[in-house]
Amino acid sequence: MKRIAFYLLGLLFTVSSSFAQNPDPKYPNMDSFVKELMAKMTIEEKIGQLNLITPGGGIPTGEAVSTDVEGKIKAGNVGGIFGVYGPELVRKAQELAVKQTRLGIPMLFGSDVIHGYKTTFPIPLGLSASWDMELIKKVAEVAAVEATADGIFWNFSPMVDIAFDPRWGRVAEGAGEDPYLGAQVARAMVNGYQGNDLADPRTMMATVKHFALYGAAEAGRDYNTVDMSRNRMFNVYFPPFKAAIDADVGSIMSSFNDVEGIPATGNKWLLTDVLRERWGFDGFVVSDYTSVNEMIAHGLGDLQQVSAMSLKAGLDMDMVGEGFLTTLPKSLEEGEVTEEDINKACRRVLEAKYKLGLFDDPFRYVDEARPEKDILSDEHRAVAREVAARTFVLLKNENQVLPLNKSGTIALVGPLANNKNNMLGTWAPTGDPQLSVPILEGVKNLAGTESDVVYAKGSNISDDPEFAEKVNVFGTRIDIDDRSPEEMLEEAMTAAEKADVIVAVVGEASEMSGESGSMSNLSLLEPQKKLLRRLKETGKPLVLVLMAARPMTIEEEMELADAILLTWHPGVEAGNAIADVLFGDYNPSGKLTMTFPRNVGQIPIYYAHRTTGRPNEGDVFQKFRSNYLDVPNSPLYPFGYGLSYTTFEYSDVKLNKREFSAGGTLTASVTVTNTGKYDGHEVVQMYIHDMVAGITRPVKELKGFQKIFLEAGESRAINFKITEDDLKFYNYYLEYLAEPGEFEVFIGTNSEDVKQAQFSFR
Ligand code: NOJ
Repeated sequence: MKRIAFYLLGLLFTVSSSFAQNPDPKYPNMDSFVKELMAKMTIEEKIGQLNLITPGGGIPTGEAVSTDVEGKIKAGNVGGIFGVYGPELVRKAQELAVKQTRLGIPMLFGSDVIHGYKTTFPIPLGLSASWDMELIKKVAEVAAVEATADGIFWNFSPMVDIAFDPRWGRVAEGAGEDPYLGAQVARAMVNGYQGNDLADPRTMMATVKHFALYGAAEAGRDYNTVDMSRNRMFNVYFPPFKAAIDADVGSIMSSFNDVEGIPATGNKWLLTDVLRERWGFDGFVVSDYTSVNEMIAHGLGDLQQVSAMSLKAGLDMDMVGEGFLTTLPKSLEEGEVTEEDINKACRRVLEAKYKLGLFDDPFRYVDEARPEKDILSDEHRAVAREVAARTFVLLKNENQVLPLNKSGTIALVGPLANNKNNMLGTWAPTGDPQLSVPILEGVKNLAGTESDVVYAKGSNISDDPEFAEKVNVFGTRIDIDDRSPEEMLEEAMTAAEKADVIVAVVGEASEMSGESGSMSNLSLLEPQKKLLRRLKETGKPLVLVLMAARPMTIEEEMELADAILLTWHPGVEAGNAIADVLFGDYNPSGKLTMTFPRNVGQIPIYYAHRTTGRPNEGDVFQKFRSNYLDVPNSPLYPFGYGLSYTTFEYSDVKLNKREFSAGGTLTASVTVTNTGKYDGHEVVQMYIHDMVAGITRPVKELKGFQKIFLEAGESRAINFKITEDDLKFYNYYLEYLAEPGEFEVFIGTNSEDVKQAQFSFR
């Protein structure tokens, strides 16, 4: 290692006099350093830097895993590796690269750290429901501290794909349907992971993914084809990527799907024209898992052709498929790619390594003493508990059934009431389900001595063994009980008969969402529905704790239950956080970031839809208007929706002026009053509608929000400053500008329940 460090240090000094043309002010010596290093590299070594492998530790997300990992590293054929965890293994693997290859170039160590490393936080869709950017940033910071303690310093997160289709299982991994909120979350996560200094051993490089349009897969079926206008791309799907780039994200992952008929991984318009030329991205682009190879199945040619096409399009690193490694030498020989194409990609990968500080010390993220100190600390678990409670969304609370009293008998029933395996949620490969707190334990911890908690499972998540087998790929998520469904139901009824209140914990198993987790039916599965119908017969107050990783169609449950608390998959502190909210130690404040449909037929359903020429008014059927014969247009719960144990009243919207122009500001204000008995947080939301424009515009778009805390009885004036920027959009010609004219501003507690005012921009 010393030898390499000396060699590289020497290089640093010798090159410091040869100046780069446009040195990055943050890294004044990087350009010359990388140039000198590349001058020593053979073409094979350069191509080796573009190769990302996995030995298959962790969860392989495709059919292939890399072979002869050690041999390839020693041969200088590897630029990065993922699925290797812990300082010992990382040190061993890094030693192969720095001690046994000719130039000793260190490798990148990556992983999917999606919602926490070992301290697992709520699924990302849940995190977004907190509308709390400081909190989300904190989650990413904790994840970075834990991951780097285990030797991982390159993260395949955040996923910022906008999605309108809850059939798609990966909505769980994103921030929902809104580009404005999505952009804020993207920025918060990138800042949280990367901190102020990528070379800090407690921060990691982020990857924003999947570029682009992955969330628009037709019919919500994972990996499916996509087709959309450029206008929609720029106005809706791109903003979170742009925000991540503006926050200096280190890398970007291309997506599996095609974009205008060309797979994203080989799409030059996307990876070069938009990403590099339009947005000035200067990090590197990594493919998704074998997505270069998958261009063969897309019908774009053989491995050599698709690899050359991807490199030329602007892809820098090839994940697992080794198309670059095995075919680029031949393509170079045949003139299909140039040495400059390879140099460009190699330079970007080396620059990332430079920024991470690997050339100063390839082992800066390897410290055998850190895991013990930094992973799963009490402090991190406390953050996980607090964060989880803040993501829960109260969907219904008739007669103030919640919060529960800490007295009397509580029947805690349902297949997720005493379960560890589903608490972490999807895509938590570094977490350990066995460390999670089940709801029963959390409720007992908090219920106190005055109350009695009786438990019964009541039903399976699903009774269907074939379905269970598909869901149980990473371990048992759906366990089908030895007892008959009838026996379980009777046991639950016996518990319920004794109780003052019934709390039923129902929903989805964690692997019913996530990658390759698409569903066509978004209702609770039948055994759980049966359980709820029976429980209702008791006439006792019925509280639903709903664990879901996507919007579900729960019209029937909304009728059956007196209260519904949506908790997503809450992470390692699940039980404690849920108990905190059920007993009122924390007053729920989460708001939906995806619309909940009434039925699957309404999908795609989202609040920021564009106007039609025949809009439907109200929820009444009108012939020759845009509506359905069998269901109203309105959703079950709109975007931004979420109740509190207290109530908030909004005054009318006041404007400080009726019009403003470029360079000016207009202030829209409301007074929000906590009119209930509890202190609580509220997310005050501001939407704008461009009333006349050169293209059809959304009926409203989120343009601001503030999460505030009001004590019972307290009132506060909340101001939103509106500038030209808030009115800008991409027009027909993809120019980003504001058009003068009339606008509506709406402020309220969710996207439907708002107060309105009108202004002009001149
Ligand atoms: C495939 C997924 O699409 C991507 O999000 C993930 O980062 C890679 N697999 C690596 O696990």
